[in-house]
Amino acid sequence: MRKTLIIMPLLLLGISAAAQPKLGKADIDKVIAAMSVEEKINLVVGSGGNKSAAASATVGDFGALVPGAAGQTNAIPRLGIPATTLADGPAGLRIDPTRTGTKRTFYCTHFPVEMLMSATWNTALMEQVGAAIGYETLHYGADVLLAPATNITRNPLCGRNFEYLSEDPLLAGKMCAAEIRGLQSNGIGVSVKHFALNNQETNRTGNDARVSERAMEEIYLKPFEIAIKEGKPWTVMSSYNRINGTMASESKWLLEDRLRRDWGFDGLVMSDWYGGTDPVAMLKAGNDLLMPGNKKQVKALNKALENGTLTIKDLDHNVRRILEYILRTPAFNGYKADNEPDLEAHAAVTRAAATEGMVLLKNTMTLPLNGCKAAVFGRTSYSFIAGGTGSGDVHHAYVVDLIQGLQNAGFTIDADLEKAYRTYIKKKDKGSPKGLKAFFPIELIPEMPLDDVDLLALADANDVAVITIGKTSGEFEDRSITSNYNLTDDEISMITKVCGAFHSAGKKVIVILNVCGVVDTISWIESPDAVLCAWLPGQEGGNSVADILTGKANPSGRLPMTWPRRYKDVPSAEDFPDPDKISRFKSMKSMSSFVGINSKPGRTKNFDYTEYTDDIFVGYRYYTTNDVKVSFPFGYGLSYTTFEYSDPMLRGGSVFVTVRNTGAAAGKEVVQVYATPEKAGRPARELIGFAKTNLLQQGESQTIEIPLYEYKSGMSLIIARNAADPEPIKVNDYSLFR
Ligand code: GLC
Repeated sequence: MRKTLIIMPLLLLGISAAAQPKLGKADIDKVIAAMSVEEKINLVVGSGGNKSAAASATVGDFGALVPGAAGQTNAIPRLGIPATTLADGPAGLRIDPTRTGTKRTFYCTHFPVEMLMSATWNTALMEQVGAAIGYETLHYGADVLLAPATNITRNPLCGRNFEYLSEDPLLAGKMCAAEIRGLQSNGIGVSVKHFALNNQETNRTGNDARVSERAMEEIYLKPFEIAIKEGKPWTVMSSYNRINGTMASESKWLLEDRLRRDWGFDGLVMSDWYGGTDPVAMLKAGNDLLMPGNKKQVKALNKALENGTLTIKDLDHNVRRILEYILRTPAFNGYKADNEPDLEAHAAVTRAAATEGMVLLKNTMTLPLNGCKAAVFGRTSYSFIAGGTGSGDVHHAYVVDLIQGLQNAGFTIDADLEKAYRTYIKKKDKGSPKGLKAFFPIELIPEMPLDDVDLLALADANDVAVITIGKTSGEFEDRSITSNYNLTDDEISMITKVCGAFHSAGKKVIVILNVCGVVDTISWIESPDAVLCAWLPGQEGGNSVADILTGKANPSGRLPMTWPRRYKDVPSAEDFPDPDKISRFKSMKSMSSFVGINSKPGRTKNFDYTEYTDDIFVGYRYYTTNDVKVSFPFGYGLSYTTFEYSDPMLRGGSVFVTVRNTGAAAGKEVVQVYATPEKAGRPARELIGFAKTNLLQQGESQTIEIPLYEYKSGMSLIIARNAADPEPIKVNDYSLFR
């Protein structure tokens, strides 16, 4: 009797459990039908942002399956629905590098930032780096990497430009699609972000981007369209901001009509973290997943179901997309993370990739040079900046600074100067920022005064001077014009004094820009003999720079955005916030939704709303059309060799051209094809295709095909070495020769 009493309930439990439809086994409609309302709501609302919870990952709780990941979806174990893990970011996986209870570490490779990768113009290389980041994402147990980001770098001051790709929609879209393919080749998903028009950090959760339909389509949505169609991302992340008055995360036109109906996107849309103001409007607009999720949203959805402003039918649309996403994940398919990605192999990948995105801006018979005695200036030389701050950061195990990179390449570093710098840095170092400050970019210490440094003696004792200028930026605030975009007085003074002393001794001076984006150059570029833009090159940065300086790698990077002569020349200069005039706290208002206060529309120009009066004339489209001189044009970059082009021919929607290396060093060339206007109103130049050659040895040629994007018969085409090339090569139409 007793046994029966025990066996019966177990049997019933077993039967009822067996009767419950399991995801992946039963038809998805049956699984949805078996879900309670509470379970459906807990699926569309993420598991919360509090990573301190135990890794329980059960419904309504929030787990930390991968400590340090940005968020999770909830599990529904009875229906075979696992929790899935979402982690940042564009320059590598961002998770906690250490965990309680174990001595092992969980560092990730800090790859070059997206801006550097875009400067490679090499989609194959971008795919390779994406594959490496995706491998680490999989092996550390995450299901989705919250990347790539592909907002247009409309204005050089945007604090997150380092995470973005270009001022040009074609370059941005193609590089983004390549990274998606690489990342997803590992069987993990991506989340292309931030869809769309998140082009400033100032008041990002409230700002209303006011833009014409033409600029929206041709410039700001175009990179996402290309990425969606050619990358096929599993998910898209809607952006914080408003677009023409409507929250992006609540815009049915954006998330259903354009993204799904017009572009064929068949995946999941998630919000940015704490983004949006109305969870019901978000779900109805096609923003399926509310991340990271909070109890306020759960309450609001329950209330909406009660009062009928949300129906179960509405909710099931979102639930279905989330289940379809979960079916693809490593978590659902029982993948067991070994937490052992090959970090050594990936260090080699990032070192090589970083050299391909560095841009040689100036070289007056200086580079390449062999290892020699070098006097190294600039506090950043001794503490290289691998990446930007905020969610785009990566917890790396080390960063190779310039000193180590030069020493590895056979340079002898002036010991007295090194000692002076290390003493100065130690004294000035404020340690890592605490509390609210930790959210913001690190404030770099001022440059070491050189009054007490015997520069003439250093010039006599060394063969060359190397100076690093460091600028970082990050999420939550835009870049200061006075101290971040412009070089500071102490930085310019350092360059001037070092050049004076070393030039008087007949020695050369090289400047390395370890920077988060465009910086002013007109005020100092005449002084040094060579200038290399190293961007934020990842953890192997010092080695990558040394590989370029010694010629082990021939620089082949080309600028993915224009470097204007002055900030005021930027077409959006009047229609972008001036961070020097906005208090940090006010800028923090932009994080209001983080604390649950939803930002309301307001009337402050460039804060509550931003007019995109530059319209389609962004970057080189503006400078070339209006014949505005720039410091360095879009597509610019020097090489240690020279290239010649054969007569380019248009055939079947592609341009064919033979490129020959006519110089003294092996190198890669970036072939850029621009359309020039047939009718008024079009920009003077528009990139319509590009391709990078293989590494061509001296005298070697390669015939390369450049597929054109949205080419229309009759367009006039040119091949140019950059957007401002005064002597482009006209592309002939093959069909005219038949
Ligand atoms: C951040 C960022 C987004 C990131 C997310 C998760 O606020 O805007 O890029 O992926 O939250 O950290």
